[in-house]
Amino acid sequence: MYYSDEVIDQVRSSNEIVSVISTYVKLKRQGANYFGLCPFHSERSPSFSVSPAKQIFYCFGCGTGGSVIAFVMQYENYTFPEAVRFLAQRAGISLPEEDSSRERMEERNLKSRILEINKEAAVFYYALLKSPAGTDAMNYLTGRGLDDETIRHFGLGFAGRYSNQLVMHLRQKGYTDDLILASGLGVGDERHGLQDKFWNRVMFPIMDVQGKVIAFGGRVMGDAKPKYLNSPETPVFNKSRTLYGLNYARKARTRTLIICEGYMDVIAMHKAGFTNAVATLGTSLTSQHGMMIKRYADDIVLSYDSDEAGTKAALRAISILQETDLPVRILDLSPYKDPDEFIKALGTEAFQERIDQARGSFFFELENIEKGYDLKDPQSKTAFFKAVAERIALFEEDLERDNYIEAAAGMYHVSSQSLKKMVGNVLMKGVRTPAVSAARDREREKAGKTTSLEESERLLLTWLCEYPAFYGSLKEFVTPQDFEEGFYREAAEMLYQQLEEGKPEPVRIIDRFEDPAQQSAAAALFNTPHADVDERELKKSMRETISRIMENSLKKTVAESARDVGALQRMIEMKKKLGRVSDLDIRL
Ligand code: GTP
Ligand code: MN
Repeated sequence: MYYSDEVIDQVRSSNEIVSVISTYVKLKRQGANYFGLCPFHSERSPSFSVSPAKQIFYCFGCGTGGSVIAFVMQYENYTFPEAVRFLAQRAGISLPEEDSSRERMEERNLKSRILEINKEAAVFYYALLKSPAGTDAMNYLTGRGLDDETIRHFGLGFAGRYSNQLVMHLRQKGYTDDLILASGLGVGDERHGLQDKFWNRVMFPIMDVQGKVIAFGGRVMGDAKPKYLNSPETPVFNKSRTLYGLNYARKARTRTLIICEGYMDVIAMHKAGFTNAVATLGTSLTSQHGMMIKRYADDIVLSYDSDEAGTKAALRAISILQETDLPVRILDLSPYKDPDEFIKALGTEAFQERIDQARGSFFFELENIEKGYDLKDPQSKTAFFKAVAERIALFEEDLERDNYIEAAAGMYHVSSQSLKKMVGNVLMKGVRTPAVSAARDREREKAGKTTSLEESERLLLTWLCEYPAFYGSLKEFVTPQDFEEGFYREAAEMLYQQLEEGKPEPVRIIDRFEDPAQQSAAAALFNTPHADVDERELKKSMRETISRIMENSLKKTVAESARDVGALQRMIEMKKKLGRVSDLDIRL
């Protein structure tokens, strides 16, 4: 670690975990904790929890967890010191100079090595584009209206005609085959050895918000298939968390973000001065994108293809963006297919006009619902209004619903009173049932089962964090020595120490580890799922858990006592204490 514990403590305590994470993940309060959809694995019902009391996040689904520092590390692909610097800046703390010689000595983790090799590849592709070998590629790009400045700005390049040009270059630079494979730049099998993933393609480096190259997209210069090839997901590249062009768009002077589908569209828009444009990478928009967008935008303009696939994608994007509470408008570029073609044909001013004219997504949705009905047929028309009412019922605020009722009624020339009644009926039936989180299910499931020793130990650690007063009753019976040797015992020792000195701070234990996997394992210790029961039940399971751990420890002591007089005495002591556990009066 390059920063002292005091510095890390200061950074951590100045960055309240709920407020930091809620800029990335939509959180809802549920009892003492907050829940949301986990950004580290894909899920439909929220099992990602954030505890303001413990200052820990933990996903009951995938087991990822840790402090606010660990969260930023994993979300932003930062190393530990990078995350500390990021959070220090956020809180306006100035950090002491770090020791760079030690940093160099520190083994760089896989993520930073992939970022480095990607950068090397981007430089290579760019140089190749600018070399005689890149003439055709250069002609292709200029033929699509790009100039040198734009090509440089986006770092476009060319993957050469031979199938292992990049691999040879990277090897020469000292990169290992393992790393080349892990970065996705090389693909390989036993027989042919390592080959370039991309060849004879125009290359688009994909950058994260800091402008670090995390992946590549490559386009064929003709009509071959597949038209685009993207890097596979790697430790630094997660498609559902990446928006092409966001590194520039976040610096645009406006808080309106234009979301489109293609690399070329982003480039064409930026070139025309619309530097607030971003694209998803051939995947649909996710709620993780939604949370990212919310940090940089106050309103959104969607520009999807007008064909059926594009309309479907737009509708899905609208429903996801609903979670962000940001207003969404839909760009109509007809008769052109995408922003690139539109700007080329009609120019910048016409494009700006279309943006200004873009209508709220609700009307786009209405038009789409309308397609399924024949409004000249009374029966079908009634069904249509029912569908509209169902859509309007999804708005959460009364006022919002009233506004949309007015708008829809005006559009279709019906009385807003009767539409309002229909909406009321939908709401009465309760279309929305609150999502039951996976975590809760699991807790219930577990409540019925007997717990293993490991789980008992974890439970005890979790309870100690949640009910610090429990320590007073517990310490006489269970000491860290009674925990299984290794990770659990070490964690128990640290936690006991903290409790002796005042209050439990599990997050400080977690942050002793710099490796995300270890941080998650440590976070799991303090987030053992347990049933939500009344105090009597809770105390009962506490006594049972204490007994189980003591019995296990006693068993080991019995084995030792054959050789060791000290152990014999301890054994007698323990048996006596164990007998008292069932009457133990636990104070919480
Ligand atoms: P151009 O033809 O270069 O103008 O591309 P476009 O952006 O207009 O293409 P299109 O609308 O067909 O695709 C939009 C986006 O979807 C692209 O920018 C890619 O990210 C992605 N995409 C398109 N075709 C493919 C493909 O064959 N494979 C993959 N993985 N992604 C694709
Ligand atoms: Mn296009």
